[in-house]
Amino acid sequence: MSAAKVLVIHGPNLNLLGVREPKVYGSHSLAEIDTMIRQEAAALDVEVRTVQSNHEGAIVEAIHKALDWAQIIIINPAAYTHTSVAIRDALAAVRLPAIEVHLSNVHAREEFRQRSLTAPVCAGVISGFGAHGYLAALRLALTLIEPGDI
Ligand code: DQA
Repeated sequence: MSAAKVLVIHGPNLNLLGVREPKVYGSHSLAEIDTMIRQEAAALDVEVRTVQSNHEGAIVEAIHKALDWAQIIIINPAAYTHTSVAIRDALAAVRLPAIEVHLSNVHAREEFRQRSLTAPVCAGVISGFGAHGYLAALRLALTLIEPGDI
């Protein structure tokens, strides 16, 4: 059986992790988080690709392109979580199972962060566990794939 293929999408400002509000988002850089993701993926025998963009349209296009390769999307839409109909519609359009991840617990923060436009088109949400959330999402991704899909 070939390995499951998972695309991880990091949204805007996540390229600044490590220096950006470390008390909220932790001290790991995005490169460190991607390394942790790759290590976990190797341990789980999952093929993983990661991408980061600060641009809504680029994220929409990454979701479209996922159809050519991935079986599952893990996405931290960052601020677009709370605003982007376009990213929500792209996730709904490709119909790949998706898991939404947030480093911080968005429900313990400002009211505007407590609404997610993207969560209703995802299988589930992991929020508040820092970088560990991505690793948990990778493990949970495997539960969303039918044996015949890979
Ligand atoms: C975030 C939470 C969002 O509200 C925020 O805009 C981010 C990061 C998180 O990972 O906790 O940029 O998605």
